[in-house]
Amino acid sequence: MKQRNLILHVAVCSVALGVILTGICPARAQETTREKLLMDFGWKFHLGNEWGTGEGPINLGVSTGPARSGFEDSSWATVNLPHDWAVALPFDRNASASHGFKPIGPKFPENSVGWYRRTFTLPAEDAGKRIWIEFGGVYRDSLVYVNNCLVGRQPRGYSSFRYDVTDVVRYGGRNTVAVRVDASQFEGWFYEGAGIYRHVWLVKTAPLAVAPDGTFVYSRFKNNVPQGPAEINIETRLANFKTNSADAEVDYEILDPDGKNVATSRANATVAPSGTREVKQKTYVASPVLWSPETPRLYKLVTTIQSGGKIMDRVETEFGVRTLAFDPNKGFFLNGKPYLIKGTANHQDHAGVGSALPDALQYFRVRTLKEMGSNAIRTAHNEPTEELLEACDRLGMLVLDESRVFASDAQDLALLENQVRRDRNHASVFLWSLGNEEPLESSPIAARVGRTMQTLVHHLDPSRLATFAANNGNEFLGVNSVIDVRGWNYDTGKDMDEYHAAHPEQPNIGTETASILTTRGIYVIDQARGYQSAYDDSGNLPREDTNTAESWWTYYAARPWASGGFSWTGFDYRGENGWPDINANYGIIDMAGFPKDDFFYYQSWWSDKPVLHLLPHWNWSGKEGQNIDVRCFSNLDEVELFLNGVSLGRKVMPRNSHLQWMVPYASGTLMARGYKNGKSMTEEKVETTGPPAAIKLTPDRTPINPDGEDLSIITVAITDAQARVLPVADNLVSFEISGAGKIIGVGNGDPSSHEPDVYLPYTNDRQIAMNDWRMRLVLDTKDRPEVAETFSDADWERDDVNTETGPLRENTSAVFRTNVNLTAEDLTAGSIMLRFGMIDDDGWVYVNGQPVGESHDWRASPTFDVRKFLHAGDNSIAVAVHNGDGPGGINKGVSLILPSKTVAANWKRNVFNGLAQVIVQSGTEPGEIRLTAHADRLAAKTVVIEAKGHSPRPQAAP
Ligand code: GAL
Repeated sequence: MKQRNLILHVAVCSVALGVILTGICPARAQETTREKLLMDFGWKFHLGNEWGTGEGPINLGVSTGPARSGFEDSSWATVNLPHDWAVALPFDRNASASHGFKPIGPKFPENSVGWYRRTFTLPAEDAGKRIWIEFGGVYRDSLVYVNNCLVGRQPRGYSSFRYDVTDVVRYGGRNTVAVRVDASQFEGWFYEGAGIYRHVWLVKTAPLAVAPDGTFVYSRFKNNVPQGPAEINIETRLANFKTNSADAEVDYEILDPDGKNVATSRANATVAPSGTREVKQKTYVASPVLWSPETPRLYKLVTTIQSGGKIMDRVETEFGVRTLAFDPNKGFFLNGKPYLIKGTANHQDHAGVGSALPDALQYFRVRTLKEMGSNAIRTAHNEPTEELLEACDRLGMLVLDESRVFASDAQDLALLENQVRRDRNHASVFLWSLGNEEPLESSPIAARVGRTMQTLVHHLDPSRLATFAANNGNEFLGVNSVIDVRGWNYDTGKDMDEYHAAHPEQPNIGTETASILTTRGIYVIDQARGYQSAYDDSGNLPREDTNTAESWWTYYAARPWASGGFSWTGFDYRGENGWPDINANYGIIDMAGFPKDDFFYYQSWWSDKPVLHLLPHWNWSGKEGQNIDVRCFSNLDEVELFLNGVSLGRKVMPRNSHLQWMVPYASGTLMARGYKNGKSMTEEKVETTGPPAAIKLTPDRTPINPDGEDLSIITVAITDAQARVLPVADNLVSFEISGAGKIIGVGNGDPSSHEPDVYLPYTNDRQIAMNDWRMRLVLDTKDRPEVAETFSDADWERDDVNTETGPLRENTSAVFRTNVNLTAEDLTAGSIMLRFGMIDDDGWVYVNGQPVGESHDWRASPTFDVRKFLHAGDNSIAVAVHNGDGPGGINKGVSLILPSKTVAANWKRNVFNGLAQVIVQSGTEPGEIRLTAHADRLAAKTVVIEAKGHSPRPQAAP
C-alpha cells in the first residue's frame, strides 16, 4: 500500500465535548501568543547572608535588602546560569566528606546563602497575558521576589517549579527578579551543589492556553503488542484566566519523525471562568516507527488552541511510540521483546561545573554511556533536569526517573505530581522510582506511603509502572509488598533468588548494583593518595553486599526475570568518600568523562561492536622481571597475548568474563590479538612510552553554536614523541583562551586532586574602614544644613560606628559626619562603594553635600556607588538619621570599597595519568575560539574551535 502512514481518523473524547474530525491543518488566523524566553544570562550574584531573608512583614511589596528593586548590585559578580557556587569554593578538610569537602552546609553559614538578581523588560502589549517564571531547579530553599513581592518559596533542591507573576509585573517597563538561595541544609549524602543550577525561563501565554505541563500524550497497542496501528491518547488541560467562560477549539497534528503529518483531530471545549478543563482525545497512527534506545525516533504532537477565530496557543510535544512491559518470569520487555536493562545510576555533577551542567554536557554524558553500550540511566537520587530527559529521548537511553522524597504528605505529593506531569511525555522514561533506601522502607508506614505515591503515579500516568530502590534483601515487607516492580539495591545471590521463588507474581529490576571503587590508570591500591586500583577486584568493594562489574553482570545476565539493572555509578561524582578523596570513585567513567578499564568490560558484553582492551599500561620501569597482572576485556571468541612479539598463549574468552595472564615485565609492546570464528580479527597493544614530548588537544565537537550555551569539551593529553598518551604523566598545563568563547571549568578525573575546577576573574578590592565619625542631635532630618559639603563639626560629639546598636534613643534624629581623603588614582576605579553595616532606622546619605541615597531598612547593609560624587582630596560624608524604635544610629561599621582592575583568571590543571579536560563555552557571537595550552619544557599547543550555526535561543530582555 502506498500510504504507509495512513491516517486513521478516529477520535474519541470525553463526554460533553464536541468532536470534529478533520484531515486538514487548522487555519492560522493569528500568530501564536506563547513565548518561552531563556533567562539564563546576566544575573548578578552575591555570596553571603548579610541581609536576612529579604521578607518584609505581612504586606505585599515590602521586602528588604537585595529583594528590593532599587538595591545596588553593581559591585556583584555577573554570572550566567546554570550556576553552582559550591564548585568554586576551596576544598576544606573540616567540611562534610559526603559533600566533597566543600565548605558549605550547616557548619559554614557564611558560604551557604547566595543572592541572584536580574531585570527583565515586558512590553506594554503584554498586558493581559499570563506571565510565568519557571525554574528548572534551585539548590536549595529558594525565595523568589519579583518587583519587591515575594512570589514563592521552594525548599526542595531538585524540583522544578514555576510562579505565575502576572499580578506583580510591570508592563511597558523593567522588572526585577531576586532569588535568595539557602544551601545550609543538605538533602542527600552526596555533593549537591548550590545555586540556580538549572535553566530559568520567562513564559508568556494568552489568558486562554494550555495549562503548564498541560499536555499528556502516550501510545497504546492492542494487547500491548506493537503491531498494527498505535492508539495515540492525548490529554490537554486548558486554563482560562478570564472572568468569562471561553470556547476553545483544540486542534491536534501528529508529525512523524520525518516531520510528515500523520494524524489530525479536533475537539471543542468550553472552559469556565478562571477554570481549567481536561480534553481527552484518541487518534491512531498506522504502522508507527517504534522508539527504542537503538532507534530513538520521535513523533511530535502539535496542539493549537483557537478561540473566537484567533490562535491563542500552540504547544509542541515530542513523544515516542513504544510498548513497555514487565513480566515476573521473563523480565522487562521493550516493544514486545525481552530487553535487558544495561544501566548506570548517576548523580548530576561533572568536572569543572559541579551540578550546573549546560545542556551540551548532558548530551556528552549520554553519548559517553551509549558508547559503552549502556541503554538506561537511573537519575539517582532525584528528579532529573528536563534537558537530560530530552537528551535521552533524542539519543536513545531509557530513564528510571526517581523522586528525591519518599513521602505522602500533601506538599510532597504535589511535587511528585509535578514531576510526573512534567516528565510523562518523555519517550525515554520507562519506569518511576518512588525512592531509595529509606530508613522506614520495611515498615507498614512505608507500605502505605508507597501505595499512596504509586496510586498517584498510576492516576497521572497509566502507561508506566513504579519501583522503589530497596536494600532490604529478601523481605516482602513495607514498600516491597505493594510496589509494582521490586527494586533491588544489591543483595544479588541467595536473597534475590529466594525472594523471586517466594513471590513469583512480582516483577523485579536491579535498581542499584556493583558499587566498586576504581581509579583510572591506577593499578596498585594507594591509600595515602586515596587511589583504588582500576582492576575489577573484590578488594575494591566497600561493603559485603556490593559487587564487581563482572559478578553483578554475570548474575543478572543469567536471570532474565531480574530485568537487568543499574550499576552504581556511570560517572564518578563528588562527595561520599574520605579525605584525600573528594570524589566517590564508584564510576565506570571518571568525573571528567574518561573511561576506566571497567568501561571496556561493559562495552564487551553490552555493545555490539567488537571490543579488545588490555590493562594495565606498560610503563613499569623498575619492575623488570616482576609479574604484572595483565587482563583483557573482549567479546571476541579467543585472545592471544604477545610480549615483544613472543606469544604468551591463546585463550578462549569466557562469556561475561575476562582473561588474565601474569606477565614478567619487560619494557616494549604488549599486544593482544582477537579471534572470531577462528580468524584473527583485530589487535590491541599497550606500549612502554617515552618521556613527555607534546601536548595534544582534542575537542569533542567543532563547530559549536554561538548561543552562549554550547560547549566544546577538550581532552588535554600529554604524549611522547610518537604521539602515544603517557599513562603516568602528571604535567601541569595552563590555558589561555581568546576569541568567541570562554573556559567554564577544568578537571582531570583525579579523585584526590584539590586543585580548583573553576578559576574566576578577580579584583583586589581595597577597603577603607571609616571609623572617625562625629554626631550631633537634630530636631528632624529634612533640609539639614549640617549635611553640606563643608560644615564645621569640630565641636560635635565623637561616635563609634562599630557598635551593634545605639547611640540614638527612640524617636530622635541626628546628623553623623566624617571625611575621607582620596587620590586621583583612587578615583580611576569604575565604582566606589560606600557600605554601611546598618542604618537604624531611616537614613539620608550625602557625599560632598549631594544626596546619594536613602535607607529605610535597619536589617539591610545599605551600599551606595558614590564614585561620581567624589573628588581628589578631602571629601565629606554626612548621614541624617531618624531612629524610630529602640536604640538606633549608624552601627556595624562603615567602609569605602575601591575595586582595583579585574585580573583575568589563570586557568590551569595537572593532567592525571596523562589526561585532563577543559570545558569551553561559546559566547553569543560567531567566530573562532583559540585555546592554547602551555606546559614546562613542552611546546605550546593551540586548538581552534569554530562557533557558528544556531544563534542564541529567544531571550528575556534585561
Ligand atoms: C547505596 C546508595 C548510594 C550510594 C552507594 C554507595 O546504598 O543508594 O547512594 O551511597 O550505596 O555504595
